[in-house]
Amino acid sequence: MNKLRGYLSSGALIASACLLSAISGVVAAQTTPLTNQEAHRRAEALLKQMTMEEKVGQLNQAAGIVIPGLATEKPDAAIAKGQVGSVLWQFDVKELNRMQHVAVEKSRLHIPLLVGFDVIHGYRTIFPVPLAMASSWDPAVEEAAQHQAAKDSRAAGIQWTFTPMVDIARDARWGRIVEGAGEDPYLGSAMAAAQVRGFQGDSIGPDSVLACVKHFAGYGAAEGGRDYDSSNIPESLFRNVYLVPFHAAEKAGAASFMSAYMDLNDVPATGNRWLLHDVLRQEWGFKGFVVSDAIAVGNLQTHGYARDPEDAAYKAFTAGVNMDMASLTYIHNLPKLVASGKVTEAELDTAVMPILEAKYRLGLFDNPYVDESKVDAQLSSPEGLALERKLAARSMVLLKNDNHTLPLSKNLKKVAVIGSLADSTKDIEGGWTVEGLFGGPGKSHPVTVLAALKDRLGANINYVPGVAPAREYPSMFDAMTGAKKLPPPTDAEVTDWIARAKAAAADSDVVVAVLGELASMSGEAASRATLDLPGMQQQMLEAVAATGKPVVLVLENGRPLDIRWAADHVPAILEAWYPGTEGGDAVADVLFGDVNPGGKLPVSWPRTAGQEPLYYNHNLTHEPEDRPSFTSRYWDLTTRPLYPFGYGLSYSTFKFANLRLSKDRINAEQTTEVEVDVTNTSTVAGDSVAQIYIHQQAGSASRPVRELKGFRRITLRPGETQTLKFSLGKEELQFWSPQTKLWDVEPGTFDVWAGEDSTASLHAELIVTK
Ligand code: BGC
Repeated sequence: MNKLRGYLSSGALIASACLLSAISGVVAAQTTPLTNQEAHRRAEALLKQMTMEEKVGQLNQAAGIVIPGLATEKPDAAIAKGQVGSVLWQFDVKELNRMQHVAVEKSRLHIPLLVGFDVIHGYRTIFPVPLAMASSWDPAVEEAAQHQAAKDSRAAGIQWTFTPMVDIARDARWGRIVEGAGEDPYLGSAMAAAQVRGFQGDSIGPDSVLACVKHFAGYGAAEGGRDYDSSNIPESLFRNVYLVPFHAAEKAGAASFMSAYMDLNDVPATGNRWLLHDVLRQEWGFKGFVVSDAIAVGNLQTHGYARDPEDAAYKAFTAGVNMDMASLTYIHNLPKLVASGKVTEAELDTAVMPILEAKYRLGLFDNPYVDESKVDAQLSSPEGLALERKLAARSMVLLKNDNHTLPLSKNLKKVAVIGSLADSTKDIEGGWTVEGLFGGPGKSHPVTVLAALKDRLGANINYVPGVAPAREYPSMFDAMTGAKKLPPPTDAEVTDWIARAKAAAADSDVVVAVLGELASMSGEAASRATLDLPGMQQQMLEAVAATGKPVVLVLENGRPLDIRWAADHVPAILEAWYPGTEGGDAVADVLFGDVNPGGKLPVSWPRTAGQEPLYYNHNLTHEPEDRPSFTSRYWDLTTRPLYPFGYGLSYSTFKFANLRLSKDRINAEQTTEVEVDVTNTSTVAGDSVAQIYIHQQAGSASRPVRELKGFRRITLRPGETQTLKFSLGKEELQFWSPQTKLWDVEPGTFDVWAGEDSTASLHAELIVTK
């Protein structure tokens, strides 16, 4: 009986039942998700039946497609032998079902595959890039978008997304700044937790995908902003800044983590036991599993950290990497390591268990297949598109608006639209678009700014694209998508385009210049040495501005750019980022005032690349910049940003007043309430983001001049006042001291500011006693 019970609870029987239904063409109905305890129990029972090789197979993630030089054939044979636990980079639903059939029907124990993919900001309905969503300063935006992305991915056979990327980025040259929430640990934590909730829900269910928090950790601090380069981060900075959003995502219940590529203080993150074991598992109590970044296990040899592939497998495995992404180093070497006793079977079991548990929690043993007939309807849902348009507009940041240039009148006779990005469906969604990647069919039909303006203004548009900018060196995705580098424009072409742009501007009431970067200029391996507007865009901008017509600059980009000239000469600048599938309409909604912009910068906006890394929460190590000497200022430029962290305008204006603390003296265990009145002083309803900053005046270590410790986005009617309340207690006041090596609230005086950005001037003082 006991034996029978064991068998009944095992994955084998459930998988066989599934096999039967699959063969008869019936897709099993989704059953109630398993509790963690039940998933654990079943995983344990299944583990007992597995051979050592099958266990190692679960730790192997294989490319689900052929990639020259990396995966020479589809993984079918290995799947059938039980040597593949997970596949990635495949999103064709038929292919996924086919491979899943191989796993479930042909492998000895019928264990389904876990399908992973980079669903970073939407599946077919592409939401604004993560940096944009962070600009909403509204975690509900991230949560709603990622929940939609989860439903869409799950319906299309993907159960695990390599998101959220929560790397702090203080340097706009780093291409991957676009994938995260910017420079701040507090804002980053809110966005990280919101994404985990969006993907996974309260508990893993039929609409959830597993989140994977990446890139653990310190990847955003790459030297010189060069992607993959080393990160050297002192422990106090690491704990007080870089690790904070990771911990928030872990506390929110993230099922998995991804180890980063680079050396962290000389020890590659993927072979860093202190990071993956001591911090993640011991200190934080993480119970899920860690996957390496793609080929990062094999790469330990490139780092000069591992002697050979066997040593690489050993170092990554014993550091705490459960699953090897695409390098095949585990599958080829772990069996040898177990045979020689360097890795014990008990250690192997510990690594495999959370992966099996995740498969049970996802209900994969019950229902591994996708109902192909339902995929298209789910992926093209009008609700998803409507949500996208709303969130895109909510994520835009109005950087400048002199003389009420915006909103534009709806009765404009003629508008000149300048710049090739205005008409580029390829770029408006930004990078990491699932169906557009790897040469996929690209079924998303994004609305460009030009299309949206034409929709509103009919034929009254003078469009002058100019020549699209191009990367000097190709993107690694170009080869996959077949993108070709076009030659730069000749002098004659430039002269001609400029003349056309000028003529179009002169013939119009207003110019909308849509400028920025191609999507491929941001993202992985897309770092830059400069932040200029690439190609001939700056020349086009200067030419149209010279006509004296009002110019609205709409930026489509994934990082702050050097827009000093525009900031001085152009009356209105709207940062639209890469706003996604309905992005053009969302831009038009803001330009014409149907939506009042309320986004704020999640990064300090540099004047030029030479200021990088630039961030507001720095220490003050000598005199402040406004003193005559002994300052850390450059002799040729201020160290101040062009626009500060937290900054963004609205068509409304707001006043902050009456900053008060419920107690202005507390002990280290207590909490004080901070209250502030926010009034809409204009005649239009609009959004303000109230922000609370603190500064610890003295302590066991120097503390940043300001740190964000609370924020809330609110909508106020004309004339309306709301009183907002924030708490300052242990969570907000503590820091990790490099001297005591502890998280502590230290007694002393704290400055408290409230306002609309990181330069807020409304001030109070808080005394903390022992
Ligand atoms: C990236 C990861 C990504 C992985 C899988 C890597 O190159 O660094 O962010 O999740 O590929 O596509």
